[in-house]
Amino acid sequence: MNIEFTEEQLAVRDAARDFAQNILKPGVIERDEQQRFPKEEIKQLGELGFLGMMVNPKYGGGGMDTISYVLAMEEISKIDASVSVCMSVNNSLYCWGIDKFGTEEQKQKYLVPAAKGEVIGAFCLSEPEAGSDATSQRTTAIDMGDYYLLNGTKNWITNGGSASYYIVIAQTYPEKKHKGINAFIVEKGMDGFVVGAKENKLGIRASDTHTLLFNDVKVPKANRIGEDGFGFTFAMKVLSGGRIGIASQALGIASGAYELALAYSKERKAFGKPICEHQAIAFKLADMATNIEAARLLCLKAAWQKDMGLNFDQSSAMAKLFASKVAMDTAVEAVQIHGGYGFVKEYHVERLMRDAKITQIYEGTSEVQKIVISRSVLQ
Ligand code: CAA
Repeated sequence: MNIEFTEEQLAVRDAARDFAQNILKPGVIERDEQQRFPKEEIKQLGELGFLGMMVNPKYGGGGMDTISYVLAMEEISKIDASVSVCMSVNNSLYCWGIDKFGTEEQKQKYLVPAAKGEVIGAFCLSEPEAGSDATSQRTTAIDMGDYYLLNGTKNWITNGGSASYYIVIAQTYPEKKHKGINAFIVEKGMDGFVVGAKENKLGIRASDTHTLLFNDVKVPKANRIGEDGFGFTFAMKVLSGGRIGIASQALGIASGAYELALAYSKERKAFGKPICEHQAIAFKLADMATNIEAARLLCLKAAWQKDMGLNFDQSSAMAKLFASKVAMDTAVEAVQIHGGYGFVKEYHVERLMRDAKITQIYEGTSEVQKIVISRSVLQ
């Protein structure tokens, strides 16, 4: 793996950094407090090409590599993880899923507008009783000939209210268990599709997380992704890529918290000198910097394997497992270094600490990542 970035990759990183610092930072505290979805900011992110980064340009995407995606996700997440979760789901779960496995017709209709950032997509797998145990899908999609009849409830769906198109995982042949699951593209506005309650969350409060209800929704046959029964494999493959996005989000939260703590520790004086000159603080900074560098290398390795066409199931799970722990640990220490200031909103680290927690839960809990990694090392 070459860890020297190309000029193109660095330009992507710098553009994401400028956008985060100049456009996202000014309103981030207010959006978090008000739980206000960053509609205008997401629109601008799309115009800059950050919502379909890895999609082939012939389908409206940026044709960039996954390394560039990691660099951009880190920069956006340093400032606003509510924006970066929308970016991650649209890029990794929605666009990549259709780009990789969709039909030409599906790509023209459902991928092109999402890759251009004109609309956003969502990915609906989790259910009230199927979180980590994703094979236990209760949502059903019964084959009615020309269409599937979709019934069920999906929970904690990112972009739930703001998306136009949704990839929905459902059970068609319960007796076949996970081999009877399918994935479908569902449009907002289809009869029987209801966007339910918005969640009031601990972190990523400006992101748009909803329950979705499907009551006798008629989904055209042409909207099924892949062969009959491909849905669970599809979900697992897409989630492997998604985990690179969330690992990079965790990396960004960690490096954002670290940069704030480093700067603060140089300004704040106690016992006659800047607090960074006290070993108690200097050693914390050393640990943070080391962990962040290790997390970054894991993210880049997973991205590189994906770009090279290699299997990245294990490396993406490792990146997510490690980076999400680093995000949580670093954010907690960043609050500690800030002392009382760390506990108030103006200093940003309390938000990063709240945002960090979700990276250990969504797109597979840390325990799920350990299932994936342990099976891989034991096989
Ligand atoms: N690629 C292809 N196939 C795969 C695969 C992969 N990466 N992973 C598993 N499979 C296949 C297996 O080979 C197996 O197939 P066979 O029966 O033909 O051999 C089948 O899928 C079932 O796999 P397992 O036996 O491993 O299934 P399991 O039930 O024991 O556990 C799990 C699997 C890893 C725990 C899985 O259920 C899982 O990943 N759960 C977490 C789900 C998740 O990440 N949810 C996140 C929701 S999306 C989200 O959060 C988005 C957001 O809003 C930010």
